[in-house]
Amino acid sequence: MTEPLRIALAGLGTVGAGVIRLLDTNGALIARRAGRPIEIVAVSARDRSKDRGVDIARFQWVDDTTALAHSGADVVVELVGGADGPALTLARATLGAGKSFVTANKAMLAHHGLELARAAEQAGVALKFEAAVAGGVPVIKGLREGAAANEIERVYGILNGTCNFILSKMEAEGRDFAEVLAEAQALGFAEADPSFDIDGVDAAHKLSLLASLAFGTRPAFADVAASGIRHVLAADIAEAAALGYRVRLLGVAESGEAGLFQRVHPHLVPISHPLAHVTGATNAVVAEGNFVGRLLFQGAGAGDGPTASAVVADLIDIARGEFGPAFAMPADALTPQASSDTGDRRGRAYVRFTVADRVGVLAEIAAAMRDAGVSIESLMQRGAMADGSVLVAIVTHEGPERAVAQALERLRGSQSLVGQPLWMHILG
Ligand SMILES: NC(=O)c1ccc[n+]([C@@H]2O[C@H](COP(=O)([O-])OP(=O)(O)OC[C@H]3O[C@@H](n4cnc5c(N)ncnc54)[C@H](OP(=O)(O)O)[C@@H]3O)[C@@H](O)[C@H]2O)c1
Repeated sequence: MTEPLRIALAGLGTVGAGVIRLLDTNGALIARRAGRPIEIVAVSARDRSKDRGVDIARFQWVDDTTALAHSGADVVVELVGGADGPALTLARATLGAGKSFVTANKAMLAHHGLELARAAEQAGVALKFEAAVAGGVPVIKGLREGAAANEIERVYGILNGTCNFILSKMEAEGRDFAEVLAEAQALGFAEADPSFDIDGVDAAHKLSLLASLAFGTRPAFADVAASGIRHVLAADIAEAAALGYRVRLLGVAESGEAGLFQRVHPHLVPISHPLAHVTGATNAVVAEGNFVGRLLFQGAGAGDGPTASAVVADLIDIARGEFGPAFAMPADALTPQASSDTGDRRGRAYVRFTVADRVGVLAEIAAAMRDAGVSIESLMQRGAMADGSVLVAIVTHEGPERAVAQALERLRGSQSLVGQPLWMHILG
């Protein structure tokens, strides 16, 4: 048998332990597919004595994670997490030492992907991150390889399993956000501090990577406009259903002459669209190519098994000698593109107001919409909430987003409004 591919593993949590279990279980099959065995030689985490449910005594333990870059391994796998800190130090040290680097860390790549891709190219090694977007779903490979011959017109999808779990539970059970979030936390579907997930930051990290792969642009996380799901009410979901839609947190990216459009927002998705039927913690990504048409990638976006599956797929590529550029083309060929999210974009919108139950409120909202040039397709008013306020939901005809923004700006601070309006885009 040829020489094994030697791995150093940083991080032995959910995904790290999953990688060990996967290699233990499927090692022989993987060796046949990869042409050589894949062997872990060294590991590192914070606490050496922690029970991880896998035997780590057989590996060399390294206290200083960064030192893995200089261990006897051919490849370092980073499963620590965090945009900066030990993960980034290890990435720089590994690539600087001329070794390949595999990571599941979308936050780090969204912020430092270009730098790391350049470092990998200079060293002639691989930088791979299949597990960083949509967990076990091979969407990175799908874009980088399977769809590489296409001009990608749009890439969008459900990129955060926690949000999709919460939204689909709110939908199925008619319960409000806070209650379902607490349950998701108890079940381990949401972190103790869930803000990265529910405010759309995690999905924004992933979207910036997909956009780069799809459009040949530099990862531009700072240009992703993101808002999450914490202000979505059960009543919004019920209203959307009555109109023929489901509410999903979508990341949407498009590239055109005006620049790069990247946005993570709750959307109304038509019931006829496949993404409307993606429920629970599942992730799904749609890519539209000019020759291949619409591709749908769907599956488990998180969890030890699916995420480890993606990490080891990267290791198999490296074992086979398949390196390839991290973002589907050499880092210097990736173009910087200005953000096109300037308000000129046209679309239909759902706007929900919580208002005081008194005469003249509807007229005030309608006047603000009319004066801003927003054409209203339908307006619904729903009975009193517990505090006596009333919900008013508007669906607009297609028009420039700037007009809706102007109307909302005018209504800001109005005595008639209780809390902030919720603006959701309707997927076209
Ligand atoms: N969990 C998923 O389903 C999933 C899915 C896709 C991508 N990812 C990504 O995969 C990565 C790992 O996620 P995870 O869920 O496995 O995280 P996790 O369970 O929290 O594990 C993190 C590991 O990193 C170690 N660690 C933390 N800080 C460290 C430090 N300063 N120095 C050395 N080691 C340190 C921890 O050590 P101790 O165990 O000793 O505390 C732990 O073993 C993240 O980038 C995450 O975004 C996760």
